[in-house]
Amino acid sequence: KPLVFSGVQPTGNLHLGNYLGAIKRFVEMQAHHDCIYCVVDQHAITVWQNPADLKKQIREVTAAFLAAGIDPKAHVVFNQSQVPEHAELAWVFNCVARMGWLNRMTQFKEKAGKDRENASVGLFAYPTLMAADILVYRATMVPVGEDQKQHLELARDIAQKFNNDFRDSVAAAGFDPDEGFFPLPEPLTQGPAPRVMSLRDGTKKMSKSDPSDYSRINLTDDQDTIAQKVRKARTDSEPLPSEVAGLSGRADADNLVTIYAALAGTTREAVLAEFGGAQFSAFKPALADLAVAVLAPINRHMRELMDDPAHIDAVLADGSERAGAIAAKVMDDVKDIVGFLRSR
Ligand code: TYM
Repeated sequence: KPLVFSGVQPTGNLHLGNYLGAIKRFVEMQAHHDCIYCVVDQHAITVWQNPADLKKQIREVTAAFLAAGIDPKAHVVFNQSQVPEHAELAWVFNCVARMGWLNRMTQFKEKAGKDRENASVGLFAYPTLMAADILVYRATMVPVGEDQKQHLELARDIAQKFNNDFRDSVAAAGFDPDEGFFPLPEPLTQGPAPRVMSLRDGTKKMSKSDPSDYSRINLTDDQDTIAQKVRKARTDSEPLPSEVAGLSGRADADNLVTIYAALAGTTREAVLAEFGGAQFSAFKPALADLAVAVLAPINRHMRELMDDPAHIDAVLADGSERAGAIAAKVMDDVKDIVGFLRSR
């Protein structure tokens, strides 16, 4: 039965892009699949995290999962560091992946910036840990935003090379060598908003690390803040077009229409059928109202959950135990396949 796996980093400032591109879709996938959702704290420390803040950030992402509607009893919600098999498999993958493959990762280039000599080794190896996250459950369906596509391609390359390199050993361990031990995971990016852009610049991705807080709507923003950020969002001076084709070359307008459509659960076509010809002075208040209507209940629920950290910790403990049970079995097979001696 195909498994769903995805992860979110607890690096602060969870925003509308994370919600529309990922978390909202995690919620939807629960109806038809077995899902594992992970707070990837080991990925977070590839760049410096203040230890006192990190625990709170881990609980906050967990609270966002639960507040958005993920059911931690029917599915699995946990934090990565409590299941050591992720890091264990990542080490094996570090020995399967090639330097050249990782050198091509655009996220590393962006995050490391000009001072590459000073980037952590973990930041460079980030994608092998991500491949391990998915493959330690042999999951195949990975709902993510568009920015993660390249990492998913790398995970497929790693799975394929592992299957080839260890072909005979995979067969000796009792698996069909033509199928391979690891399945090839698929990125699921077909949501209404796989790439939400900055409110200050429609050509840049909405991001946790943008220095301007006005560039994003955070899941922790209150109603006034959301309304103010929408009001200040950059636009051009033309009214909205009546057809989607009219949005080309208008990145800021396109972004706001896309956000509206995703929040309303409809299409850009439908939004423009309603607002075509309208000025932004009319569209923005409607967008702000819609954003508040969708996010306020999540925000309220997140706050309630954050008032009870013991409950969150119990959810993560339970999820970690159930995730660990699956991961340990896969990791035992990996050890046999690689040729590690298991005498206990
Ligand atoms: P992270 O924590 O940066 O983002 C979490 C999810 O949000 C999506 N996302 C967006 N979607 C649309 N528009 C945006 N502006 C936007 N910004 C972020 C991301 O694509 C992601 O789906 N490497 C991952 C975390 C990870 C992971 C995994 C994901 C670790 N291991 C295994 C899937 C499977 C990341 O940095 O996500």
